[in-house]
Amino acid sequence: MKKVNQILLSATLASALLGGCVSRGNDPGWEYAPDMYYSKGYEPYSQADSSALNPYGMSMRTPAVGSVAMGKSDYVYPYENNGAGYELAGAELTMPEGFSDADGRGQYLYDIYCAPCHGAKGNNDGAVFQKAANLKPAWKGYSDPYIQTLPVGKIYHTLTYGKNNMGSHASVLAPLDRWKVINYVKQLSMQSAAAPAASATENAASEMETAN
Ligand code: HEC
Repeated sequence: MKKVNQILLSATLASALLGGCVSRGNDPGWEYAPDMYYSKGYEPYSQADSSALNPYGMSMRTPAVGSVAMGKSDYVYPYENNGAGYELAGAELTMPEGFSDADGRGQYLYDIYCAPCHGAKGNNDGAVFQKAANLKPAWKGYSDPYIQTLPVGKIYHTLTYGKNNMGSHASVLAPLDRWKVINYVKQLSMQSAAAPAASATENAASEMETAN
């Protein structure tokens, strides 16, 4: 019995102590040595020492509209995501000066990001288009005159913003990489134009794969 009393007493003491800690309502309590937590100098992302000069009391100001981060000027894309922007890109955008794809990165990226739909050779026979033929574009593949004559600027615009069933690839292809992929698309479209028989054989082969 004595033991039970002891336990009860310690439980009551414990709850009284804990209660003292938790039942303070909205009182934030005391902060000891706050200058240990809040630097006296302005911290860019901190608002503890609210600035009276900047909007929202921020230490750091938002960059002026139109400013470009150092080294990111390639990412500035002046054309809007609409039909007029697409036409303008087609008329004005060209491959960057001194462009080269000596390391074959265009094909490397194409095989990752484009072949699943457009097929390794651009015959619109990738796994996605085989499973969902309703997603396919109207043109038959890169050998189509539509792609052969399509201005590179329009392709750049499509890679940047996407077009109907094709999503934007801006997050996975840096600006120069977009040009490398476009260069490879144009190579594929010229190759398949030069060797139509070869692409017909490939089409037959991929049809057999689908049948299996
Ligand atoms: C999810 C499937 C899919 C993927 C992945 C895909 N595309 Fe497409 N692509 C399409 C479809 C669908 C269209 C037809 C869009 C339309 O005109 O309606 C298209 C259109 C195009 C066109 C014609 C653009 C134009 O302006 O008319 C080109 C060139 C092209 N794709 C290249 C690529 C390249 C290069 C990649 C890889 C970076 C890629 N696509 C990835 C589905 C895809």
